[in-house]
Amino acid sequence: MKQVHVSASREYDILIGSGLIKNAGGLIKNVSSARKCLIVSDDNVYPVYGEAVLSRLTGSGMTVFSHVVPHGESSKNADCYFSILEKLAVLNFTRSDCVIALCGGVVGDLAGFAAATYMRGIDIIQMPTTLLAAVDASVGGKTAINLKQGKNLVGCFCQPKAVIIDTDTLSSLPEKEYLNGCAEIIKYGMIADSELLKSIMSSPVKDNYEDIIFRCVDIKRGFVENDEHDTGCRMLLNFGHTLGHAFEKLSSYTLPHGFAVAIGMAYITRSAYRQGLCGKDTSDTLTNALDKYRLPRFIDYPAEDIARAALIDKKADGSLINLIVPTMPGKCEIKKIPSSELSNWVKAGEAND
Ligand code: GLY
Repeated sequence: MKQVHVSASREYDILIGSGLIKNAGGLIKNVSSARKCLIVSDDNVYPVYGEAVLSRLTGSGMTVFSHVVPHGESSKNADCYFSILEKLAVLNFTRSDCVIALCGGVVGDLAGFAAATYMRGIDIIQMPTTLLAAVDASVGGKTAINLKQGKNLVGCFCQPKAVIIDTDTLSSLPEKEYLNGCAEIIKYGMIADSELLKSIMSSPVKDNYEDIIFRCVDIKRGFVENDEHDTGCRMLLNFGHTLGHAFEKLSSYTLPHGFAVAIGMAYITRSAYRQGLCGKDTSDTLTNALDKYRLPRFIDYPAEDIARAALIDKKADGSLINLIVPTMPGKCEIKKIPSSELSNWVKAGEAND
């Protein structure tokens, strides 16, 4: 097992290893004195792992309830959020009880926001079961639901009590979900670690889950510790996300998050290269990584529609927008550009070089 300690507004550990669900009772008791907990999951994941987690927690003396929402991004909505809050209230949960998010990033964000706001905040433990949630969404305390106007428009920062990543849950991921997570891993390589990019080019991510997840969450730890509330260096984690969120929205959330981020990274990198902000090696490095993991690099929406959808996203800052732009493999910078220039950036990223 590998462990990463995060020192943010709350200190917590991220545990990464095989078989951790079998020890869930002990691991959760180590960090929480809760006597009652609510497992929040979705209708894909709960049937596979729900009973195993529930029985381990019950076996360690906790009273355990579960709440299952439909799978998919559409569950990150106000109805599902209120259904969790009402379940907690009906079950008389108090501030000394806890919520466990057992699932991918959608449930992690949704359950995290419910836990952060129920009675002004009760403990949340993240148990991600997808690669994308393991390397990104479960770590760092961002919680949110979507509005019809855009993704993650309502939420707050609330660090978990612990993140428990059982790598066994990743071995049965469908191919598309695996590739979805690989997109975020490529992002970490592009923003902070060219050696990580080399390593995932020479052997597949799935052959080294523990090491690669450790490296990604350790990179994220650094950003979160330095800029928990996302006003400075943490914004680098948004590489590919400003356009990615626009693609998700334009596709009515049928395009998986990682795939959208992959296309977003590709557009910005092609655009940066054309504007002389990075070299061909940077653009080629990203292209090769996305191609190796069969991730898309293009999408067929008009540049104006993409820019309009992106500008409603929370990263729009008055008349300026923060774009994360690569300067070399393993290094990006935050560039403030006028919102009115975004569609030109998108246009410059449309064509292959
Ligand atoms: N997913 C990016 C962040 O947590 O800041």
